[in-house]
Amino acid sequence: MASATLRRGILDTGPGALSWVKLNTPCEGRKIDMRLNGLVLALVLFSFAIGSHVQAGGNIEAGKSLALACAACHGQDGSQGLMPNYPKLAGQNEKYLLDQLHMIQSGERVAPLMAGQLNGKSSQQLSDLAAYFASLPGFKGVSTDDKLTLGESIYRGGIMEKGVSACTACHSPSGVGNNLAGFPRVAGQSQEYLVEQLTRYREGTRATDEKTGGMMRQIAGGLTDGEIQALANYIQGLQMSGE
Ligand code: HEC
Ligand code: HEC
Repeated sequence: MASATLRRGILDTGPGALSWVKLNTPCEGRKIDMRLNGLVLALVLFSFAIGSHVQAGGNIEAGKSLALACAACHGQDGSQGLMPNYPKLAGQNEKYLLDQLHMIQSGERVAPLMAGQLNGKSSQQLSDLAAYFASLPGFKGVSTDDKLTLGESIYRGGIMEKGVSACTACHSPSGVGNNLAGFPRVAGQSQEYLVEQLTRYREGTRATDEKTGGMMRQIAGGLTDGEIQALANYIQGLQMSGE
């Protein structure tokens, strides 16, 4: 029973996770184990441990009552920010949300408008909030035609000459990210918010990616303003198949 549920949870998270399920089948395990490099395997195992902990921790109903205070800025059900540069939260990945809530609360992520919002909240309450927002249907948006092809090409292929990795590697081709690994969903997020965050990573004023070796700062470091605009426009209109 438990293992069937776990498997379904893992299957939902994308191709990397599928390899994990396959690893469990005795005859294929060895072959696939050899193909996975150590880092990927470690990441999957690590995030699996954390992810399952998070999923067990948060109470959606309790989170829903706590979230009443958040609606003023993040919109009814977290689906639309009050200002264009306020993030949408509905359907964001649970582990990512929880990580950010802890970092905002501790001040590691500087977010002046969030100041005070999380004061006095226990770890359990932060888990409840993360579980609630993650349980809502994912946000959606629409792209304009402005530099759409450039945005798509960087999202899918990166910029090799500048060492900018393809965003799909971590945020997935559909933009849903990877919950267990703590990679955020970006598809449908507001363009203004995306531009602001990518710019902050580039300038180093957002350093919440420390635990993942500063990868977003490194990637955004290679992007011009125009490329950031193009990416954000493309990403805001990314639609998930199967949703
Ligand atoms: C006064 C407005 C305001 C209120 C109220 C507010 N937020 Fe925020 N929140 C923001 C802004 C603005 C940001 C973007 C911060 C930044 O610039 O990095 C943000 C960011 C966040 C993020 C990070 C999202 C991401 O994609 O990284 C989370 C999570 C979050 N808020 C959760 C909450 C929760 C939970 C509550 C209610 C307990 C809440 N917020 C209440 C304005 C608000
Ligand atoms: C190697 C993995 C990896 C790659 C490749 C990657 N990202 Fe990220 N991205 C992350 C992680 C991990 C985070 C969360 C880091 C943190 O906690 O601040 C993140 C965060 C973000 C955020 C902030 C989301 C929010 O809600 O605040 C944006 C926007 C983003 N990435 C866009 C991109 C774009 C655009 C690209 C391609 C040019 C890209 N990423 C490539 C791993 C990656």
